[in-house]
Amino acid sequence: MSLIRIKSFLKIIFAFTAALLIITQSNSQNSEKQLDVTADLFKCLTEMARVGSGVFFVDNLLGDLDGTMSVANSDNGGVYPAGSVISLVPTEVMIKHNEGWNPETNDWEFIELNVSESGSEIVGRGTTDVINRFGGNCFDCHKLARPEWDLICGISHGCAPLPITREAIAGIQNSDPRCMRED
Ligand code: HEC
Repeated sequence: MSLIRIKSFLKIIFAFTAALLIITQSNSQNSEKQLDVTADLFKCLTEMARVGSGVFFVDNLLGDLDGTMSVANSDNGGVYPAGSVISLVPTEVMIKHNEGWNPETNDWEFIELNVSESGSEIVGRGTTDVINRFGGNCFDCHKLARPEWDLICGISHGCAPLPITREAIAGIQNSDPRCMRED
């Protein structure tokens, strides 16, 4: 290979690397908009607030529980405020970071927990690539919710229904091992 060829080859490699870096950056989260999420923040499910429909539980890390509740109880959807924490079953949680954190997921982070009497352990977290214990991708299911529902599936927002009954879900909700703690 002549020197000129090597140079143009290197130029192409550099151009590719630069393009890749730009793509990666545009997909990454904005750390300035990120809330600090640690395992000790997760409460026993039934210590969270139950939404009016009774379907799932909510909280707000920034103290705006009223804001979170009003979207959760709305008949026509809305955008959840930053700090919102949503959970249907103890091991799966969605947390809303500040606006602009990750537009592709409406600033939601998907979190998979292990729960036991000694508390919660974060085993998976992220945006579009978090897989639950059944091998399902959180975002791939939740993105089917119609836009006005802010990626929340509920029972009639457009997501494919879960293959378990409401009674089974209630059973899982009522047997959160973290609620058995004595402290
Ligand atoms: C197979 C599709 C599917 C996968 C995978 C999935 N979910 Fe869901 N999720 C649903 C559906 C459907 C509901 C509503 C179920 C109901 O209430 O009947 C739901 C409910 C929820 C809720 C309560 C709020 C709501 O949207 O109704 C949260 C929070 C949640 N899921 C988080 C997660 C997280 C975190 C993951 C990954 C670790 C995950 N989900 C994986 C389909 C899925």
